[in-house]
Amino acid sequence: MKKVGVAILGLGVVGGGTYKILTEHREMYRKCHQVDITVEAVLERDRAKAIALGVEEDKIAANIQEICSNPDVEIVIEVMGGVEPAKSFVLDCLRAGKSVVTSNKELFCKYSHELEVAAKKNHCGLFYEASCVGGVPVIRALLDNLQGNKITSMMGIINGTTNYILTKMATEGAEYGDVLKEAQKLGYAEANPSADVEGYDATYKLSILSSIAFHTKIPYTRIYREGITDISVTDIEYGKKFGYVLKLLAIGKNGDGGIEVRVHPSFIKASHPLASVNDSYNAVYLTGDSVEDVMLYGRGAGALPTGSAIVGDVIYCATHTNYRYSTFKNTEDASPSTKFVDNFESAYYIRLNATDRTGVLAKVSSIFAKCKISVARMLQERGPVGEDGATPVVFITHVTRENNVKKAVELINESEEVAKVAAVIRVVS
Ligand code: HSE
Repeated sequence: MKKVGVAILGLGVVGGGTYKILTEHREMYRKCHQVDITVEAVLERDRAKAIALGVEEDKIAANIQEICSNPDVEIVIEVMGGVEPAKSFVLDCLRAGKSVVTSNKELFCKYSHELEVAAKKNHCGLFYEASCVGGVPVIRALLDNLQGNKITSMMGIINGTTNYILTKMATEGAEYGDVLKEAQKLGYAEANPSADVEGYDATYKLSILSSIAFHTKIPYTRIYREGITDISVTDIEYGKKFGYVLKLLAIGKNGDGGIEVRVHPSFIKASHPLASVNDSYNAVYLTGDSVEDVMLYGRGAGALPTGSAIVGDVIYCATHTNYRYSTFKNTEDASPSTKFVDNFESAYYIRLNATDRTGVLAKVSSIFAKCKISVARMLQERGPVGEDGATPVVFITHVTRENNVKKAVELINESEEVAKVAAVIRVVS
């Protein structure tokens, strides 16, 4: 039977889960795949943690060089997170001829070019299913099963922390700051939550997924990003009145006009399959020209779900020798021929705080007309019930362009009539 030794860099939550899966299912992999996968080394500063997991003392490496020079190690699993030292360690391993399986979305998103060059040069595999959407096998689906399609669109809830917060705000009516504190207490949100709540985490994942789906490098710096820190329960509640649910969506489109990629809070119809993806669950909704719509749903994080994706890659790597790299030229930046659409089309939810007097709506309407914005629906509460005694007036627009809305917001806020824009949220159809 073929023997394959692996090393794990980092025995944190995901590393621990991966170790557990590999050791508990060893016999099943022997039977089903005729491969005996054993953990031959770990790199973990906390020796007691490694020993508690069942790692033998002599398998705890003192440094990365010990792993690189260990002839029993064929595949290295990097689950340390962050860019450094993970990047240097991964490059050291690839240069030493070890294949690498990583869950590190920031590393892969920012340096996939450099890592892939090193992997190809040294005839190694480089696998990263666990970098996006945890246990949900989106990357393999895109790389293999869906290759027959031109993927025209992807929409995803690909950050569990923000989905948990938005779900709580919607179901309990609690404000963002309070839910965030609770999420931190429960361990759902990090002490420094900015990577999640400001949308960076989703942006890294969208960069990886859209690059594969659209067969061209989409650097994360090209992705429009807006997090959830300014979302208020008021808007979630108004959205419900129009039949919408608020989600932090990662959106990629590949149309005739070019590629658009964005991460921002979005209202979607309550009947849309993504609307029922709640709590810390993730989902990706893909549209291909042949397959039509496909939705993949599951746990986007956690020890065992992420470990599941890692071990899937390890088995694939252990049973294949013709490694597969990107289906596009994995350059450092976008290719000059890639056309990005920044002034994208969308419908919009616009909430104003207005003084309830003659002429305010007329002025707002004239600004909308000037900016080529057509109103689809409108709601005004009776009486001065909003902030500072102002009356909330909410509009849902027909599809228009992003720049039209930016201009309208500027003109409304500058106008002498008393109306201020309190919120603008894109509505996805
Ligand atoms: N922090 C991520 C999330 C999980 O909240 O979804 C790891 O990608």
